[in-house]
Amino acid sequence: MNNTENNFAERTAVITGGISGIGKATAELLYSMGTQLVLLDFNNELGNRVAEEMGDRATFMSLDVADPQAVADVFAAIAERHSSIDILVNCAGISTTQRPVADYPIEDWQRAININLSGSFYAMKYAIPLMSNGDAAIVNLSSIMGQVANPNGAAYAAGKHGVIGLTKAAAQDYGRKGIRVNAIGPGVIETPMTQAAMQDEAVIAAMNGATPIGRFGQADEVAQLIVFLCSAQASFITGAYYPIDGGFLSQ
Ligand code: NAI
Repeated sequence: MNNTENNFAERTAVITGGISGIGKATAELLYSMGTQLVLLDFNNELGNRVAEEMGDRATFMSLDVADPQAVADVFAAIAERHSSIDILVNCAGISTTQRPVADYPIEDWQRAININLSGSFYAMKYAIPLMSNGDAAIVNLSSIMGQVANPNGAAYAAGKHGVIGLTKAAAQDYGRKGIRVNAIGPGVIETPMTQAAMQDEAVIAAMNGATPIGRFGQADEVAQLIVFLCSAQASFITGAYYPIDGGFLSQ
């Protein structure tokens, strides 16, 4: 492979959760470089609107990533329209109930794991057989909570720690087949997911105080890292976890 040149214009990227926040910023960056996009999300109204606004190289397809049969079906449909998938970015995710372990509702635990961990597994399971050109990349959204945990955050932390293990194992499975698999760990990023917390002055002060850079991150800063990991410049990077957290984990 050519280690210095990118041709994102000849690539097809599938982005789960690609219509909001970090996923949307990633979609917009790839779109600006000419990539064909398939955006998967369960918010149909927003999905159709975002894809239409982006332009004719962006397609929205409805998907609940927690439903394995639906994931299989959507990738079968993608295979009919695209000769191969070059990039998969697993952004679909939810914030979770905050409760101590003994009080954690079973159904909330299962929903969190089904979306935040199993959703990435299902998407990889059905995307990887379509990644046949020997130069493909997967980026999975973990979190700073993939390395540490906060009180009441069992389901989120377990899911995001799991994403890192899934990433490392898949990197071993597919390194010799030309598929690189990496995870990233954003700190607090201003997106619709964190909008509610952003209204609370005490939360803002606490989070900024715990972040050496002293502010929240922006979705387009995270998108730059994701696209770098999908680029030719990252050709020797696989099985890795990159924090993008304003220094949060350095303390
Ligand atoms: P967001 O809420 O703006 O976007 C997430 C998207 O995923 C939404 O469009 C939502 O509809 C979709 N989604 C949720 N569950 C789904 C399901 N079952 N099937 C299909 N689509 C589903 O969130 P944001 O902030 O862009 O988060 C993206 C990823 O980054 C998530 O995995 C999140 O856990 C992770 N992350 C976010 C951080 C932040 O501070 N915003 C920090 C660390 C990680």
